[in-house]
Amino acid sequence: MENEKRAGFTSSFGAVAAAAGSAIGLGNIWRFPYTVGQYGGGAFLLIYIIFVFLLGVPLIMSEFIMGRRSGRNVLGAFRTLAPQRKAWQSVGWLAILSSFLIFSFYSVVAGWTFNYIILAGAGKFEGQSSEAIAQIFSNFTTNTWSPIFYLGLFIFFTALVVVKGVQKGIEKTCKVLMPILLLLMILLCVRSITLDGASKGLDFLFKPDFSALTAQGVLSALGQALFSLSLGMGCLVTYGSYVRKEDNLLKTSVSIAAADTLIAVLAGVAIFPAVFAFGMNPASGPSLVYEVLPNVFNSMPLGIVFATLFFVLLTIAALTSTISLLEILVAWAVEELHMKRIIATVFCAAVVFAIGVLCSLSFGALHDFTICGQTIFGLFDKLTATYFMPIGALALTLFVGWQLPSADSRDELSNGGALKCSYYKIWLFTVRYLAPIALVIILIAGSLGAEM
Ligand code: PFF
Repeated sequence: MENEKRAGFTSSFGAVAAAAGSAIGLGNIWRFPYTVGQYGGGAFLLIYIIFVFLLGVPLIMSEFIMGRRSGRNVLGAFRTLAPQRKAWQSVGWLAILSSFLIFSFYSVVAGWTFNYIILAGAGKFEGQSSEAIAQIFSNFTTNTWSPIFYLGLFIFFTALVVVKGVQKGIEKTCKVLMPILLLLMILLCVRSITLDGASKGLDFLFKPDFSALTAQGVLSALGQALFSLSLGMGCLVTYGSYVRKEDNLLKTSVSIAAADTLIAVLAGVAIFPAVFAFGMNPASGPSLVYEVLPNVFNSMPLGIVFATLFFVLLTIAALTSTISLLEILVAWAVEELHMKRIIATVFCAAVVFAIGVLCSLSFGALHDFTICGQTIFGLFDKLTATYFMPIGALALTLFVGWQLPSADSRDELSNGGALKCSYYKIWLFTVRYLAPIALVIILIAGSLGAEM
């Protein structure tokens, strides 16, 4: 089994498309705009970009190093690279657990998006008051069966891609979907910035007002960067194991971070000018895209078309991310539990669906069932974002920075000496000291701030 030949990405574009597909998701188009809205706009954006490039890129490189060096799934990577130090494997297990939990609640929201394509396309928001639009959202999410149906459908489509394997499933799908996503996004941005009164929204997004930035905002920017770049749960370890030996890991990592940031900023450009032009509230939180945007589309010419395109875009972004979440699990089940790919896919998808049903019911029938004051959905979201992902990211950097011999990491970054790697010392300093310190700070602050 250890020597079995594994299929990998066939080109560097394929690798970037797949990993950028993982990074670009609901985190960019749903979570990023409302977080920017809550923490005051431009100043948050600036801090966020600094975190992405200063810490995010070195962390992406670290996960890629682990994956490519070991050629294994996230648990197998720890086992292969540190066979004597079994304790590290607990980090692999934590990553698997995080993937199950994140995939479950993420698919609930992704399923809503699916339904919104249909609602928007059928013109259900047309001529409705904002109260009626909010009511549509709450009627749908509190309903028992309909969100579960869309949740199942979304997981089914994800499984359909993953079962076909890395090249014919993941790489091929991402290579087609990512350029479409970029085109749709540009189209929406053009529509938004040509609206009367759009400049207020652009000012909000791009003019930094540091007085609006709080310590909580800075921490959220770091947390958002981790989530958005799919870090801390072995996703990029798994994808790294499919990256070709001749690909330049620095270039690949910078391209992923740049693509992810570009789409997040474009999402802001598509959303805020429209929100301001129609006098809506930019700080309305998680319901921004479901409750506020339909009003915005309502008030613009060809609103039905743009609303439908927007939800198609959100669905594509979510799908390329759930594909990566399922691949973390399938790679683990195939390599560690020795399952056939098809069985592994069905098994992991079924477990995720079962947990997802509980998350979905958190908005309706199980709304009053709380653990530590949180619904099941809220608990999984909080547990993973506040603890599991930062702990996973911390452990991964410590592993690559201190446990993995530096000769190995240098060898990976320089492709066996073929590339000049003058930045090596800066990278090593970042993963040994800067990143761990920043992650410990978010962990402590996150635990103190969380009401759990
Ligand atoms: N990066 C994704 C997003 O921004 O929506 C979410 C995600 C995908 C997180 C895959 C973690 C992961 F392994």
